[in-house]
Amino acid sequence: MSGARAAARTAVGAAVGALTVTSLAACSGADRPMSMFSPSGADASRVDSHWQMLLLLGSVVWLVVMGFTLGAVLRRRRAHREDEPRGRGHVVVAVGGALVPALIITWVMADSVLVMRDTGGQGEDAGTVVEVAGHQFWWEVRYPEDGVVTANEIHVPVGEVVRLEMTASDVIHSLWVPQLSGKVDLNPGRTTVMTINAQEPGTYWGQCAEYCGLQHAWMRFVVVAHEPEEFDGWLEAQSLPAEDPGAGGEPGDPADPDAGDQDPQVVRGREVFMSSSCVYCHAVAGTEATGTMGPDLTHFASRQTIGAGVLPNDRESLARWIVDPQAVKPGNAMPGTDVAGEELEAMLDYLESLE
Ligand code: CUA
Repeated sequence: MSGARAAARTAVGAAVGALTVTSLAACSGADRPMSMFSPSGADASRVDSHWQMLLLLGSVVWLVVMGFTLGAVLRRRRAHREDEPRGRGHVVVAVGGALVPALIITWVMADSVLVMRDTGGQGEDAGTVVEVAGHQFWWEVRYPEDGVVTANEIHVPVGEVVRLEMTASDVIHSLWVPQLSGKVDLNPGRTTVMTINAQEPGTYWGQCAEYCGLQHAWMRFVVVAHEPEEFDGWLEAQSLPAEDPGAGGEPGDPADPDAGDQDPQVVRGREVFMSSSCVYCHAVAGTEATGTMGPDLTHFASRQTIGAGVLPNDRESLARWIVDPQAVKPGNAMPGTDVAGEELEAMLDYLESLE
């Protein structure tokens, strides 16, 4: 019986140990796309240094308390020894129970206030201003000075402060890119501000951090940090209409001699798209599609994901999304379509041409 109990205890111990090791490994942050433990932004680095300090301080306090506890346990075993000197217990309590904790709490509070000061920048003189609107369940991203509209991707120049002016169209959302900065809520009817200052080029995953409905967990996005000149190139490319590169006019226009340069499949797909219900919700700059309910599709093919991170942006995923978005992401605002066969293939060709 006791052998079985000991074995069970060993098994539970091993399980708890394994779980702890796994959790700690999961938290370590090395090479993980959404870990605040591998900061790459000015604000995230400041939060990380605060957390390191708390971890160190907490570990020291824990070790000291455990040391005293162990000492008390061992002491009790020989408590019958009457000749032992009794003594300065009240001094230990006053110092260890009041003075030291007061100093530690003051230190922690002071550093917390400094973190709030250091990370609460409003980016008044930021070179780039980005407007972000939270929708159930995707992100609208605008560069007002350049007339650029995109979705679920925020592109920024490395080493510069970027000011995000944020609002929401329906319910409260919260923008969080753990490797770059803290969280700030997006509220309907008002504008909140946060700054991003990426230190390294790369792609950083972000996530809505305020529960906002069925697909809150799939309200993801990426921040892509470019070298400044590369960022300028991206911004310029995004500010042009994606359609019909070099053709100088609407494809299919008999008056436009270059229009024939377009792939006939793309021209066909354009017709399918423009005559479908897609155009009531989506816009493609320079065309008759001017919907505003869903993401702007002007440079759709340049984006990394579909449905705010739910699928990679490839042809197969796009077909799944167009035919039955509710099966992929239940509760999102996009209805399915009955486009199929040759029309669907042509529409995919068209959408994939929007780079
Ligand atoms: Cu938007 Cu959670």
